[in-house]
Amino acid sequence: MATVNRPWWQSGVVYQIYPRSFQDSNGDGIGDLAGIVERIDYLAWLGIDAVWVSPFFPSPMADFGYDVSDYTGVDPIFGKMADFDRLVAALHARNIRLILDFVPNHSSDQHPWFKESRNSRDNPKRDWYIWRDPRPDGGPPNNWLSLATGRNAWQFDPATGQYYFHAFLTEQPDLNWRNPAVRKAMYDALRFWLDRGVDGFRVDVLWHLAKDPEFRDNPINPDYRDSDPPWRRLQQIYNADQPGIIDIVKEMRQLLDSYPGDRPLIGEIYLPRARLMEYYGPHLDAAQLPFNFSLLWESWNREKWNAPALMRLVQDYEAALPRGAWPNWVVGNHDQPRIATRLGAAQARVAMVMLLTLRGTPTLYYADELGHESVQIPPERVRDPFGINMPGGTQGRDPVRTPMPWDASANAGFTKGEPWLPLAWNAAALSVETQKHDAGSMLSLTRSLLALRRSELALAIGDWAPLSSGDGILAYQRTWEGRSFAIVLELESRPKTVRLGDGINGQVALSTHPGRVGQRIAGSVRLDADEAVVVALTD
Ligand code: GLC
Ligand code: CA
Repeated sequence: MATVNRPWWQSGVVYQIYPRSFQDSNGDGIGDLAGIVERIDYLAWLGIDAVWVSPFFPSPMADFGYDVSDYTGVDPIFGKMADFDRLVAALHARNIRLILDFVPNHSSDQHPWFKESRNSRDNPKRDWYIWRDPRPDGGPPNNWLSLATGRNAWQFDPATGQYYFHAFLTEQPDLNWRNPAVRKAMYDALRFWLDRGVDGFRVDVLWHLAKDPEFRDNPINPDYRDSDPPWRRLQQIYNADQPGIIDIVKEMRQLLDSYPGDRPLIGEIYLPRARLMEYYGPHLDAAQLPFNFSLLWESWNREKWNAPALMRLVQDYEAALPRGAWPNWVVGNHDQPRIATRLGAAQARVAMVMLLTLRGTPTLYYADELGHESVQIPPERVRDPFGINMPGGTQGRDPVRTPMPWDASANAGFTKGEPWLPLAWNAAALSVETQKHDAGSMLSLTRSLLALRRSELALAIGDWAPLSSGDGILAYQRTWEGRSFAIVLELESRPKTVRLGDGINGQVALSTHPGRVGQRIAGSVRLDADEAVVVALTD
């Protein structure tokens, strides 16, 4: 591979693993760390650069690991610390980085810190969490809503007569990040993992760490629609993203920077673009990669997914980036419907080409490389508390957390036991083993894209420029030191001939459609419905 003096996380591709669902090694139906180790050959074969593993720390599993009861351990469901050490070593041996999921905003209510905190009003840990007196009428301190239940986010504790705040589940009390002792304890946890070889962190709900010190009520959201999640009834003004937040992110970043190697801070931040950009820090000294979810939102439904809208989105995002800031792109994660379900199989392939050819670090959600769809969960098998707790009950996020299909054997090779969530009905056909042998599969397409990125600096780190967004086509160019690629995406599901312009000549380097590679292009290109091509340009 060509090299250049850039941190690995700029040219690299991050692959997110939801550990409960990747590979089970001991037949209990739940994926684990030893299971990931068994599948590292696959990750190396696929060609990704880093793995982000969702939480595997000790947890009562009220939110499947996003409720941590010990920040420096491994939950027995996922294995032992020795399994973690093996995982680091095995990944590093194949030059794959390991990114952990850090959940600083809240702990489990079973964390010893919270147990102490709720003991008495004068417990030294009282101020580690957010405790407030009831209103004079006994009601909760303000109107903030839980994002997990849609109900008021304060829980009354009769023993001490105060309420504690939980932005998510009742079992996930928010830590008080204005307390320096909390920060110190959390930074110690980060150091613990950095010392064990971790290469970076994805930080859970990073924008939530700073709340309004006066705990003012959130205003009513006039744009609320019945189809919105219930917490949207209020504007999210005072409960998150408050002054002081960037200083906290900078502190975390300094800690990461004090370790050798480039260890990025990736922030989970669901905020409008202008606010998101603040998280890079005034001197690019906060998060290296504040997650950019704009493509995820744009792909929410097939109608929004069109060429002019996408072109505007990419241009606006590029234009809004602070000078020198590095972009990133996401089309799926463990909280959002699968892209193949949102867009359909054919456009999911186009989206994969886009994800892996835009300028910026892509994050790929496990099984999206198989074109995996969201899985219907029978009501009696729903496990996600965010689904069960919602008014009327929904499937929550289980549909996007189902087991990875590996082969055509029982349970698609995921487990020898009973899988914790059902597999896709078409798991065998979708499986890695089946798709590996099919040159036209989504898996083969993804792997070819990753290989091309790896061999072409123009695609990995090159500049981005728009070509056109007319006639249902999105076309753009990537360039690095005289080498250029045109990427042309057909978004209307109709075949057409696209004028790229005189002087745009070259050869197809990759396509979603078979039989294209090597074809010569001169000024225009003929595309099939739902086709995406990457053209190596020649002078
Ligand atoms: C983040 C996680 C989500 C979790 C929530 C609370 O949004 O991605 O899965 O439930 O935070 O920790
Ligand atoms: Ca297991």
